[in-house]
Amino acid sequence: MGDDKMTTFPHGFLWGGAIAANQAEGAFDADGKGLSTADMVPYYKKKDYTNLKELMHVTSETIERGMQHASAEGYPKRYGIDFYHRFKEDIALFGELGFKVFRMSINWSRIFPNGDDAEPNEKGLQFYDDMFDEMHKYDIEPLVTLSHYEMPMSLVLNYGGWRNRAVIAFYEKYAETVMTRYKDKVKYWLTFNEINTTVIEPFTGGGVVEDTVDNIREASYQALHHQFVASSLATRKGREINPEFRIGCMLARMIHYPATSDPEDVLQAQIDNQLNLMHTDVQARGSYPPFMKRYFADNHIQLVTEPGDELLLRENTVDFISFSYYTSLISTVTPEKYGVTGGNLFSTVKNPNLKITEWGWQLDPVGLRIVLKELYDRYQLPLFVVENGLGAKDKVEEDGSIQDDYRIDYLRKHITQVKEAVLDGVEVMGYTAWGAIDIISASTSEMSKRYGVIYVDQDDDGNGTLDRKKKKSFYWYQKAIASNGADLE
Ligand code: BG6
Repeated sequence: MGDDKMTTFPHGFLWGGAIAANQAEGAFDADGKGLSTADMVPYYKKKDYTNLKELMHVTSETIERGMQHASAEGYPKRYGIDFYHRFKEDIALFGELGFKVFRMSINWSRIFPNGDDAEPNEKGLQFYDDMFDEMHKYDIEPLVTLSHYEMPMSLVLNYGGWRNRAVIAFYEKYAETVMTRYKDKVKYWLTFNEINTTVIEPFTGGGVVEDTVDNIREASYQALHHQFVASSLATRKGREINPEFRIGCMLARMIHYPATSDPEDVLQAQIDNQLNLMHTDVQARGSYPPFMKRYFADNHIQLVTEPGDELLLRENTVDFISFSYYTSLISTVTPEKYGVTGGNLFSTVKNPNLKITEWGWQLDPVGLRIVLKELYDRYQLPLFVVENGLGAKDKVEEDGSIQDDYRIDYLRKHITQVKEAVLDGVEVMGYTAWGAIDIISASTSEMSKRYGVIYVDQDDDGNGTLDRKKKKSFYWYQKAIASNGADLE
């Protein structure tokens, strides 16, 4: 084995960045687009980041207000960063960065404004055609998420979201429509973003409104089951449309460490990890892991399934596993002994060994290597880090520069750990830094929680020129990509 080869990333490693339509595009009612779940989320200006669930929580009342609110004012995800009109300028910057791949999502409600429409919206389809053409000008491969918190609102209001089995057919039609239309422009697909969100934040992940159901946990797992089935159907259909497609699942990997060596804490961490990994077990191994039977019984969850479901899941597993990684969490049977901090999707007790971000997320680069090794050991499928990044406030200096050394430090440390995992023998397809360009935060709807290496001039209330500026991290990431990860200084 040549040592040189072993110190750099594999040839063809897919470097890039990632965004979601609902956090970037804006133009929430342009060219026939229908309202989506993301359009219901107002900016609360709440600052308790340890309670992300509350920040993201949408009730029937929130929806009623959102449906009556006709403008984008106070609803940042409705205006985003105007990527809808500026994508050419932004993709040119991605080209300059040297991106090999750009992960984005198709906003389902641009294609089927009500979800159950007989025909797709041509203007919506054309928009993504134009975007993919633009990416190919710079040799950037699209990595498309079919569903990233953007379910058409009509499917929530008229069907109850993903807990209704009827939604599967609408999703399948949507997937077939876009996979057929873009079969020569897109190779890499993800069926659902962070599919585990459905059981953590059921409205965001599954369009399930908590106050409309009796047993929210049961409704969430039912919605999740329908998503698993839909994902398998889309995977099967995709392979028929173009056998060259590479179709993956996507998990918010929340690794849990035990708080202590007390076997009860260790067991709790194991349970928490199993509950997180069960999603990937279904999508990559093709069936529910045995421990879920007990979990469902203990939590009074009775899933309604259909006879063909088991076979469908088994026969249509994914080609690769993608995941987001931001932080690690702590499991304990005595949480009252510890302080609480924020986290990706939910809060956790503090790990005394780790520093936290301004939003309370624990910084744990080594955790990324652990996750990569663990996922590869478990599934032996190629892995793709499709989200990783630092949400931080940036300051524009008098000379116009943005000296975001903290972001460089974050990216360097995490990419170094990916490199270590590659050296450990893990097959990693690529790395897409979350944000790439500043967008609206998923959890807090703030603009000031910035992830990008490209700065966007806009504040939390939507004021600003929307001008784009290269941060110091832009040049760092450009160099890292150009050297295929060899130069991380
Ligand atoms: C992931 C989501 O959970 O984390 C993204 O897939 C999101 O949509 C990202 O933006 C970062 O979270 P936040 O809340 O800081 O934007």
